[in-house]
Amino acid sequence: MTTIIVQPSGTEIHVEPGDTVLSGLQKAGYAYTVGCRRGGCGICKIDVLDGEFSYCRPVAETVITDEERADGTCLSCRAVPGDDLTIQMRDASLRLVNPLLGQLNEKARKRAKAPSTPPEEQ
Ligand code: FES
Repeated sequence: MTTIIVQPSGTEIHVEPGDTVLSGLQKAGYAYTVGCRRGGCGICKIDVLDGEFSYCRPVAETVITDEERADGTCLSCRAVPGDDLTIQMRDASLRLVNPLLGQLNEKARKRAKAPSTPPEEQ
């Protein structure tokens, strides 16, 4: 189970394995300003405060500097969380646009977080 924690609100989003940060947030009903969705424009940059991520596909070398790569800047359209990730949106534009998806995601997050019960003995 992977969770993205969005600061400063502390909103927790459940993300399926292999989902990018962008797709995970969108599947949970959230939207924010993005551009090409292909790692080529840099509009979707966010700050990763804690956790690891990798890029599922190449990103343009000209879009993200070595300094940004080192300081936790992330292209959310291509970044796949390796584990739980704490992020901060740069322009605070994250908004819940589909509350139903938000509720479904919250239920999925709680289910995934619940301790598994051992199978009953027969
Ligand atoms: S939306 Fe263009 S780099 Fe992510």
